[in-house]
Amino acid sequence: MSNQLQKVQELIALREQARLGGGEKAIAKQHERGKYTARERIAQLLDEGSFEELDMFVKHRCTNFGQDKKHYLGDGVVTGYGTINGRLVYVFAQDFTVWGGSLSEAMALKICKIMDMAMKMGAPVIGLNDSGGARIQEGINALAGYAEIFERNILASGVVPQISAILGPCAGGAVYSPALTDFTIMTKGISYMFLTGPKVVKTVTGEDVTQEQLGGATMHSSKSGVAHFATEDGEEALQLIRKLLSFIPQNNLEEAPLEKCTDPIDRLEDSLNEIIPDSPNKAYDMYEVIGAIIDDGEFLEVQRDYAKNIIIGFARFNGQSVGIVANQPKYLAGVLDCNASRKAARFVRFCDAFNIPLVSLVDVPGFLPGTGQEYNAVILHGAKLLYAYGEATVPKVTVTLRKSYGGSHIVMSCKQLRGDMNYAWPTAEIAVMGAAGAAEVLYAREAKEQADPAAYIAEKEKEYTDLFCNPYNAAKYGYIDDVIEPRNTRFRIIRALQQLATKKLCNPAKKHGNIPL
Ligand code: HXC
Repeated sequence: MSNQLQKVQELIALREQARLGGGEKAIAKQHERGKYTARERIAQLLDEGSFEELDMFVKHRCTNFGQDKKHYLGDGVVTGYGTINGRLVYVFAQDFTVWGGSLSEAMALKICKIMDMAMKMGAPVIGLNDSGGARIQEGINALAGYAEIFERNILASGVVPQISAILGPCAGGAVYSPALTDFTIMTKGISYMFLTGPKVVKTVTGEDVTQEQLGGATMHSSKSGVAHFATEDGEEALQLIRKLLSFIPQNNLEEAPLEKCTDPIDRLEDSLNEIIPDSPNKAYDMYEVIGAIIDDGEFLEVQRDYAKNIIIGFARFNGQSVGIVANQPKYLAGVLDCNASRKAARFVRFCDAFNIPLVSLVDVPGFLPGTGQEYNAVILHGAKLLYAYGEATVPKVTVTLRKSYGGSHIVMSCKQLRGDMNYAWPTAEIAVMGAAGAAEVLYAREAKEQADPAAYIAEKEKEYTDLFCNPYNAAKYGYIDDVIEPRNTRFRIIRALQQLATKKLCNPAKKHGNIPL
């Protein structure tokens, strides 16, 4: 065998060794846990045969605790680039078979390298996380590695999309990087996110809690809102990333890909002309409205199980990707509260950062009153949504279906927050407050002096309803651009978006604003 051929054989052997990660036994254990290996995950995520791996031969440099005698090629993370539906993406996948996917200094450098490349090339970064946090043997060097990653997450925020899948137990530093990214996807029964695990919790607070209760996918997608999606298994999580990216541009200077649309743009939905119940206290399902107006009913909902009083997600109109924000009258009457405001505000900011137009569907009775909300700073959380809409420069189309009262009217992308096209259905009620409340505030004293106070209040309520609880009062001042027939909503939104395609609007130059965090 020639010298060169021998060297080629050595390379092939080294590659084989690297591909085994922590070894065959550890791979078998990973499979027993119901999890795929890092390389298997990347193969499921990317277009077939598109992955180009980098830094396969990286080794850690730690000498503590006998670490110098133990090395795995690649050091617990697989990094590189490939394509999803033909579009370039950068990816890292932590390999749990190597010290539980824990983060070493070397691993951090590998991750930082592809993040830097993604920024330079203007392409999304996808992190497949399965990690026990900072590699304990490395001490401060592992912490420094995390900090390097966090800094890049922050600098890349709003420049390239960042998506995190949590595909195993993630603890300590392993949860902060996903928290800094745009979307976090967890898998039920397999993935966990917590700062410290149940054992430490027990020691510090005495609380007995399982991994699932402390940081499972169900908890994070319904209670904390940390996870944007919860999937049944890892494969579904990876397919979801592919779908999510189809709605999103490669970077902040590009537009989302335009899909071919076969759904007629002028499709009339007669059911929408009768969807609003006669009683203002009765609910209808906003999902029915969304499904009826978007292309082919295809809606990718974000944070489905968290703050269900507001619905957020991606859809298309005439093939163009949009972010939908809609109050849900079926849940808490569609009221805005702390969680709903935070949820929608972050989504609005994501869409604005990545040139995705916003379509808002409004039916909101107001902000939820009471100590529960005030003690939790509903003023600040509501202000987040206000700020997000007001700062957004992407095309903004708003349709008011029914209620739009007081502060919540303003917050939900009203004309003065630079709403571009503000439409209303004939059933819209745009006023300072509901008729019952208004009559009570204005006429309670006078009513007491009447023979029949209840009848007097009812009469005043009707007066207020006739005067304000309609769209025409707002339309009279141009605050509503047009009152539209509900069944024609899809067409009117598409027309508005077409018109707004060349919109140019810049905010004043500044270092950055100070959103009420
Ligand atoms: C080094 C680690 C490790 C770590 C796990 N391993 N975590 N090695 N550093 N952080 C190793 C284990 O020793 C084990 O090695 C292998 O990975 C698999 O771990 P298991 O415990 O057998 O797996 P499992 O039962 O599935 O439990 C997974 C786990 C648990 C929940 C992640 O390992 C765990 O609690 N790890 C520690 C988590 C933690 O407290 N991290 C915080 C680090 S501090 P062998 O050789 O036995 O196979 C931190 C601060 C950063 O991250 C803060 C930045 C803001």
